[in-house]
Amino acid sequence: MATAMFAFAPDPAAPKAQLYVDLVEAARALVHDEPDGVANMANVAALIWQFLPDLNWAGFYRTVDGALVLGPFQGKPACIRIAAGQGVCGAALASGATQLVPDVHAFPGHIACDAVSRSELVVPVIRDGQVIAVIDLDSPSPARFDETDAAGIEALAAMIGPVI
Ligand code: SME
Repeated sequence: MATAMFAFAPDPAAPKAQLYVDLVEAARALVHDEPDGVANMANVAALIWQFLPDLNWAGFYRTVDGALVLGPFQGKPACIRIAAGQGVCGAALASGATQLVPDVHAFPGHIACDAVSRSELVVPVIRDGQVIAVIDLDSPSPARFDETDAAGIEALAAMIGPVI
């Protein structure tokens, strides 16, 4: 059986939009021909962590029986179960829409898994019209995420939807 080295490296000089193009392409190569969703989420969480600066948490929550359950991630141990509508992740599940939160302290019901988090981006992963998971990024910096980050993670979510 063939083995492979997965040596993907972000280009520190690349503009942010290009960084996301590179991230999505690296993720596409990693999930290629691999049907195991846990393995794919784990590698994608690791790639996000490697490519994007200034994060303190990056990973997945999966939809199980209408609520979110912790999936593969990088960062400190986190809340395990989140109800629909609860916190930023639950808002993404309930609405099916990306949540771009410049100041988590100003978000009603924000769930502080790590007190260091100051801003957050949560993007739903949609398959067959259902939110099957969310990608959650947290940063210790206020307003760390903008529309370019949202569009980049949305492109990642669209690519991995079929393989997680
Ligand atoms: N802050 C999230 C909870 C998940 S942790 O950040 C990993 C929220 O409010 O949904």
